[in-house]
Amino acid sequence: MSYRQARWDEPPLWEVAREPSLEAPPPIPGVPEGFRRRSAVRWPELSEPAIVRHYTRLSQMNFGIDSGPYPLGSCTMKYNPKVSELLARRPGAAQMHPRQPEATAQGSLEIMYRLERILAKVTGLPEVSLQPAAGAHGEYVALLMIRAYHRDRGELDRRTEVLVPDTAHGTNPASAAMAGFTTREIRSVDGCVHLPALKEALSDRTACFMLTNPNTAGLFESEILEIAEAVHAAGAMLYYDGANLNAILGITSPGRMGFDVAHLNLHKTFATPHGGGGPGAGVLAANETLAPYLPVPRVVRSGRRYRLDYDRPKSIGKVKLAYGNFGLDLRAYAFALAHGEDGLRHVARRSVLNSNYMASRLGKLLPRPFRSLVKHEFVLSGAPLKERGVRTIDLAKRLLDEGVHAPTVYFPSLVEESLMIELPETESKRDLDAFGDAIERALADTPENLRRAPRSLSVGRIDEVRAAREPVLSWKDQRAAGRNVERPAPLPEGHESASAQDLRRA
Ligand SMILES: Cc1ncc(COP(=O)(O)O)c(C=O)c1O
Repeated sequence: MSYRQARWDEPPLWEVAREPSLEAPPPIPGVPEGFRRRSAVRWPELSEPAIVRHYTRLSQMNFGIDSGPYPLGSCTMKYNPKVSELLARRPGAAQMHPRQPEATAQGSLEIMYRLERILAKVTGLPEVSLQPAAGAHGEYVALLMIRAYHRDRGELDRRTEVLVPDTAHGTNPASAAMAGFTTREIRSVDGCVHLPALKEALSDRTACFMLTNPNTAGLFESEILEIAEAVHAAGAMLYYDGANLNAILGITSPGRMGFDVAHLNLHKTFATPHGGGGPGAGVLAANETLAPYLPVPRVVRSGRRYRLDYDRPKSIGKVKLAYGNFGLDLRAYAFALAHGEDGLRHVARRSVLNSNYMASRLGKLLPRPFRSLVKHEFVLSGAPLKERGVRTIDLAKRLLDEGVHAPTVYFPSLVEESLMIELPETESKRDLDAFGDAIERALADTPENLRRAPRSLSVGRIDEVRAAREPVLSWKDQRAAGRNVERPAPLPEGHESASAQDLRRA
């Protein structure tokens, strides 16, 4: 049931390829003189099988959402349905050109328009822009909109402060700082915003309060209506970090809770790939007050035609050159249509059920700092492990030897030695039980084994500080120097994880 990682010693293609030929390629007819390549492209020369085997071997050393559950709290790592992949790869979608005339892009514009309408309903906020490329980008763009709003009211000079709770994701204060605000932290009590502390901090200097609900401790901020009232009474805006929307889909919405603007991570809630640094989608939804400031162009319908509208005088402008992440919008659209309204509600219920099932089982092994009922994710503290001379990081590394992915560790930072676990609705009870069994086995192991883990993977424990200070970026140099990567040592008899035993047998 658990994942077995291959242990290939795989050099990068650049280091095994034949020297490239140094002849400039023949000119391509029709390419103007000034744009012609004059020297050879120094790409490695390899046969097709060599390339295919290289990437196959790399994939065998990788762990992905198609290999098993990916319990990263705050990240909502869902299985990405293959039907959505098929749709996104159809030539009509994959081969769109950013400068294609609108008349030839009607299908794509219609999908964008319809997705915006679905997301308006989901968020309870009437206007949506698909432009931001990631959650953090959405935060930044929304803060620029809030700046523009306060500027129009002649209050920007005064409203320079953004409030964030101490449970906030790091991108919240970072986005606020990038948008030119100063930030101030609001303390939480039992994992939720301390309302008196918030009220005390709110003033005519406050531009906005950023909040995610349920928050990053997996707790629903039940005083949200009072929070919204207090923020608005101070003349500030309430921003919804929608990274945790999975827990409330179809049950409640940022609009109902009193938020003015929200970003959603389609790559979380709507099961589109997280892209490993590639394109995400951090769409924005806004109420009537902030909608005029949304970025241009907006997708509009005139009769049966769709077009991009730039005529929005109050808009903060363009925040991305083109809709290059349209493939993600298409996947999210497919996900929303496949589920329908009831199905989306089921997503939230199932993810909350999964989380509470797991929390009640693992809560018997490690302390849970907050209240017992949670939403889509929960937090444990690995602090008692310190009595055995180990830490949360050792447990996380030891889990890798069990063939499962580790949860988020050391976040939220207000919990000592925290582990944050999220197993979304796509995970079955069988997967949850297997994950629970893996944690039990890892915790039962000796402190020495925990500290030395992982030992069944192709790469052992890395000295991260040294790797950053003295990076060795070539496979050959690394082999020569024997640096950077601590090779996994064989496990001592009697202390093998199931995966290590299987590897040895294989
Ligand atoms: C609560 C929360 N807010 C914001 C973000 C930022 O989103 P992104 O990674 O798409 O920039 C994350 C990402 O994990 C998150 O968990």
